[in-house]
Amino acid sequence: MTPNERSAHTTVLVIDDESAIRESLRMILEFEGYHVDEASGGRAALARLAGSPVDAVLLDIKMPEMDGLAVLEAMRSRGFDMPVLMISGHADVATAVEATQKGAYDFFEKPLQRERVLLSLRNAVESYRLRRERVSSAPDELVGESAAVRHLREVIAKAAPTPATVLITGESGTGKELVAAAVHRQSQRAEGPLVQVNCAAIPEELIESELFGHEKGSFTGAVRRQAGKFVTADGGTIFLDEVGDMSARTQAKVLRVLQNGEVEPVGAEKAIRVDVRVIAATNRDLEEEIAEGRFREDLFYRLNVIPVRTPPLRERMEDLPLLVDYFVRRYATMNNYPAKTFDEGALEQLGKLPWKGNIRELKNLVERLLILSPGAEVGRRDVLGVSGGGGNTLPEALFNLPTLRRFREEAERLFILHKLEENEWNVTQTAQAIDTPRSNLYKKMDQYEIKREEHGG
Ligand SMILES: Nc1ncnc2c1ncn2[C@@H]1O[C@H](COP(=O)(O)OP(=O)(O)OP(=O)(O)O)[C@@H](O)[C@H]1O
Ligand SMILES: [Mg+2]
Repeated sequence: MTPNERSAHTTVLVIDDESAIRESLRMILEFEGYHVDEASGGRAALARLAGSPVDAVLLDIKMPEMDGLAVLEAMRSRGFDMPVLMISGHADVATAVEATQKGAYDFFEKPLQRERVLLSLRNAVESYRLRRERVSSAPDELVGESAAVRHLREVIAKAAPTPATVLITGESGTGKELVAAAVHRQSQRAEGPLVQVNCAAIPEELIESELFGHEKGSFTGAVRRQAGKFVTADGGTIFLDEVGDMSARTQAKVLRVLQNGEVEPVGAEKAIRVDVRVIAATNRDLEEEIAEGRFREDLFYRLNVIPVRTPPLRERMEDLPLLVDYFVRRYATMNNYPAKTFDEGALEQLGKLPWKGNIRELKNLVERLLILSPGAEVGRRDVLGVSGGGGNTLPEALFNLPTLRRFREEAERLFILHKLEENEWNVTQTAQAIDTPRSNLYKKMDQYEIKREEHGG
């Protein structure tokens, strides 16, 4: 990479009250391929930062309205954590040193030395990028202080050190994967592998060889021998995600592994002994699946040694502000967005949403709000704007409904109706617009008896 390529998408904000300094820095930086923005004072700079992402800040110490140190502090308290490089005159070197103690990345004395500024800036931008990458690859923490989440943590702590099989159930987006990872991490197998298999994502004809492996030539396409996930997980944990989606045949084979501690690769003569801890998860109601004959009862009992239920968000709404705060900080660091604050009205409005998609939905909504809301504070209107409310207020009648369930259904019905009208009753297009399978939309239309002729279209 040439320096120009490296700095191509890098924005530097230059904050200085002297336009001559801003101008000369702009020339130097633009020559290196940086994108440069300017602000002539602290207040303008803070407003600018709340706008779009900035990768580094060059900040003059001596400014009339708000000095550089105050700007640095204001930035940090607002959650702007990009590197700040201070520019000091001879007289305020002491302040520059203080600034580095308060988290500034570096400082330069005037007159500025071009090479020194460029080198330090390059390092600052690079280490900031690495820090963001580290944050984005780390899993979420299990955030929450509600009784439900505290209980969840206790169960994990108790179950983890044992060899027992854990079955995690809960609605979509409630953190089943996080729980599985936590169980593994707190177990005696933490040093061993954690191998995740999404049983719903693997085609039926491949899942057996995925899980148990196969010998070379055991079926068309088996060009070489392959170890299955159970063998890969030897000494560690296998996480059978979406276990409710396994076929009867695979269920029978998994049951055998659980009973004998042995796997039989497809086409192999001999079984292989494995030492594997099993964690399974599903958002299906397995008892119902058993009743319908779709899931083996004996396998269920083998898996369900320690049942763990991840609570839906609506049962732990007191965690909502904590979760919002956590995702705001995480996203801000990860993607270099400005960290915004959510005011009371915004939180209250979030509290009114049904949260069918649980924490995943909340996480996505927080991200959208950070990108889409114009100011440094996210308010009720912003939430209404992005959460499907379209800024409209809900019909008063909805609030007279007796139960949450009735409310949710009625709101859903109105939403679907509204979207269908918006899309001129093109079901495929509407389904795409509201991000649901077409079959589901048909099901809902059926359930709510939504028909075009009644509504004029
Ligand atoms: N308590 C929590 N604190 C912080 N983040 C959470 C929490 N619970 C879930 N998340 C985050 O929400 C998202 C959804 O969680 P996860 O993928 O574990 O859901 P799931 O229960 O496996 O859903 P599905 O059934 O759809 O697979 C993830 O990004 C996860 O990190
Ligand atoms: Mg999952």
